[in-house]
Amino acid sequence: AVERTLSIIKPDAVAKNVIGQVYSRFEGAGLKVIAARMMHLSRGEAEAFYAVHKARPFFKDLVDFMVSGPVMVQVLEGEGAILKNRDLMGATDPKKAAPGTIRADFADSIDANAVHGSDAAETAAVEIAFFFPAMNIYSR
Ligand code: CMP
Repeated sequence: AVERTLSIIKPDAVAKNVIGQVYSRFEGAGLKVIAARMMHLSRGEAEAFYAVHKARPFFKDLVDFMVSGPVMVQVLEGEGAILKNRDLMGATDPKKAAPGTIRADFADSIDANAVHGSDAAETAAVEIAFFFPAMNIYSR
């Protein structure tokens, strides 16, 4: 089925100037960018976006990192977009990410891991709505 997923190019990858290279991987896999915005998240915004991880020991480091610089946020649309994007990204820990994945090629650590992608249809809907009102999504 055609799905939508929320993608974030994190501060490390934006600082490395690889937004275009990451977009090329999305496009090469048949994923279409149907909404995008660059933003520098506030601490409150980052905490709200990652609220599901609030109780985890890595929460503070995660938020500190996500507010350390601008991010590029996009909605990707395509056949099986959620799993396709997760395959392109590779494992959360870049040390475990398969060769040729975004995280294997561009990420430095489990926090500075280059990209975020929704993990399921329900979270994708919530994450897309967090950043984009329906009127700012341009499908077909
Ligand atoms: P992301 O897909 O953005 O979702 C939560 C983030 O927390 C994850 O990528 C990692 O960058 C970060 N993180 C740090 N430590 C861990 C961990 N032990 N397990 C999962 N995520 C972690």
